[in-house]
Amino acid sequence: MSTLTIAAAREVFELLREDLVAVEQELGRDAASSVSTITEIAEYLREGGGKRIRPSLLLLAAHQLGYAGQGAIRLGAVVEMLHTATLVHDDIIDGADTRRGRPSANTTWGNEKCVLAGDWLYMQAFKVALEERNLRVLDLLIGLTQQMVEGELLQIQKLGKSVSEAEYYDLIFRKTACLFSVSMRLGAVLAGATEATETSLATFGRAVGLAFQIVDDVLDLTATEEVLGKPVASDLREGKATLAVIHAADHGTAADRKAIRRVLDDRSFENVSRQQIREILVRNGSVEYAMAAADRYAEQSRQALAPLPESEYKRALLWVPDFVVAREK
Ligand code: IPE
Ligand code: IPE
Ligand code: MG
Ligand code: MG
Repeated sequence: MSTLTIAAAREVFELLREDLVAVEQELGRDAASSVSTITEIAEYLREGGGKRIRPSLLLLAAHQLGYAGQGAIRLGAVVEMLHTATLVHDDIIDGADTRRGRPSANTTWGNEKCVLAGDWLYMQAFKVALEERNLRVLDLLIGLTQQMVEGELLQIQKLGKSVSEAEYYDLIFRKTACLFSVSMRLGAVLAGATEATETSLATFGRAVGLAFQIVDDVLDLTATEEVLGKPVASDLREGKATLAVIHAADHGTAADRKAIRRVLDDRSFENVSRQQIREILVRNGSVEYAMAAADRYAEQSRQALAPLPESEYKRALLWVPDFVVAREK
């Protein structure tokens, strides 16, 4: 990440510092259950940190529109809890053993307890959201949760299969971009924004979210576990074809296609090594192709904000797509 991006990161963090502290406090209060195992798991997840990108988006959206109430803190915690719940279930589904640089919750407590802890977190998120007494908020959150679950299910149905780019984009919208979009929309709902403004913010969130998942999928192919804090090269091993792999399968030689198919079928690098797959991706320019797609969505997101008045919050929002495409974890 360039020094410019790091400097901007500090500025954004400074802008949101007090709010993010308040979100952490809210998350702390919300992690308590009368059943100790749930509190332990919820606390462990909260302590694990994470980038807190979704609450940050919600807070920036609310501030940009002049909202100054407690609702943004509360809903910031809500979107983070929903995100955490999907991660707990996702790690069970993916059989992942690390998350945020530590053993994943399923490794420590096992799948059975973690499925239930995930369910509890979903409901805790809705309980806190209910405090807003705003049906529009609930409507958005219910639609979102269904989209995310549908996304994970569609992904399971497509495991090991060839996926078209259109199918890939539908999937990453549901599992990731929808939550980014709803986080922005919730900021607009709190502020009582016009429909046009809400749409601009939602479009921004969707485009940033698509770029975010494209980059997440590239990092799975190019990063190291030490930096990423979660397993790498896991998508192919799980039978998931992501954008760079779809590109290489579409544009590579018959032998390239065969090698990719082999890994997806084997669900391991036993017969075709990770190194061979890397070579195929490099030779076909597939990683550049995926990153160019992420750059296009980053640009689209910046354009979506054009109608909004200039402010320090808008500048912070405009920095988010840069951060998303330049990030290393
Ligand atoms: C991980 O999200 C799941 C994806 C949508 C790829 P983040 O990368 O935002 O996870 P944390 O919260 O920072 O750990
Ligand atoms: C995104 O998918 C996860 C969710 C939206 C729940 P991934 O499976 O790519 O996420 P990571 O890589 O495990 O964080
Ligand atoms: Mg996963
Ligand atoms: Mg991933």
